[in-house]
Amino acid sequence: MNMDKVNNEVANIFDGETGDIFPSDTIEIISSFIEVQNLYSSAIREVSTKLENLNDEFKYTKDRNPIHQIISRVKSPKSIFYKLKRKGHEISIESAKANLTDIAGIRVICSYLDDIYLISDLLTSQSDVNVIRITDYIKSPKPNGYRSLHIIVSIPVFLSDRTELVNVEVQIRTIAMDFWASLEHDLTYKLSERKTEAVVKELKECAEVIADTDKRMQTLYNEIVKR
Ligand code: GTP
Ligand code: MG
Repeated sequence: MNMDKVNNEVANIFDGETGDIFPSDTIEIISSFIEVQNLYSSAIREVSTKLENLNDEFKYTKDRNPIHQIISRVKSPKSIFYKLKRKGHEISIESAKANLTDIAGIRVICSYLDDIYLISDLLTSQSDVNVIRITDYIKSPKPNGYRSLHIIVSIPVFLSDRTELVNVEVQIRTIAMDFWASLEHDLTYKLSERKTEAVVKELKECAEVIADTDKRMQTLYNEIVKR
């Protein structure tokens, strides 16, 4: 075990506090959180490779890339810790694996609206990809205007002594949806409690303009390419 890494993470989570503020087994828990990151990184690599392979195949057969960009991250021990705490779950690896579906996250940014469903269908129909949940925030946007297709999949990760089924959250969205989500996230963070009704309304209207533009770009693509 790399104790420097563990101590750094403990200091990070507890903001330099020591002593009785954290439970006595904190060191063990944090070190196991760090260990579990490897497992989730492996799962991300597997799903990312699948997505890259599909994109490459399209490049070769159809001379186009349905995927514009793939971004991934593993949730930090600190975020895992606070999310479990916030949701009232026990703070342990077993609890994190059972209760959090977004320890491994992949964001797939597509060029066109139809590409989202193309990629989603191709990924979820692969024999080692188990679909846990699909939430379509494009057909049913969030009240604030947020749009994306969220898929939770579980895939087998082969370790030296066992095979583990690992959950990965895949968010698929267009470049335009990503543009909105990034700025909305940034503004919401900057405003925190100063977020007025007028701001909320404006953001929602922007989301609708963007959604309309996505549809028009898809129509344009269909007219130009499939004519
Ligand atoms: P979490 O506890 O936050 O994971 O919520 P959830 O389990 O209900 O999942 P949900 O599908 O609502 O959101 C998961 C992720 O989608 C978030 O962590 C964000 O990355 C993204 N997301 C969801 N809603 C919004 C939103 O309103 N704005 C932005 N910018 N991102 C969002
Ligand atoms: Mg989340």
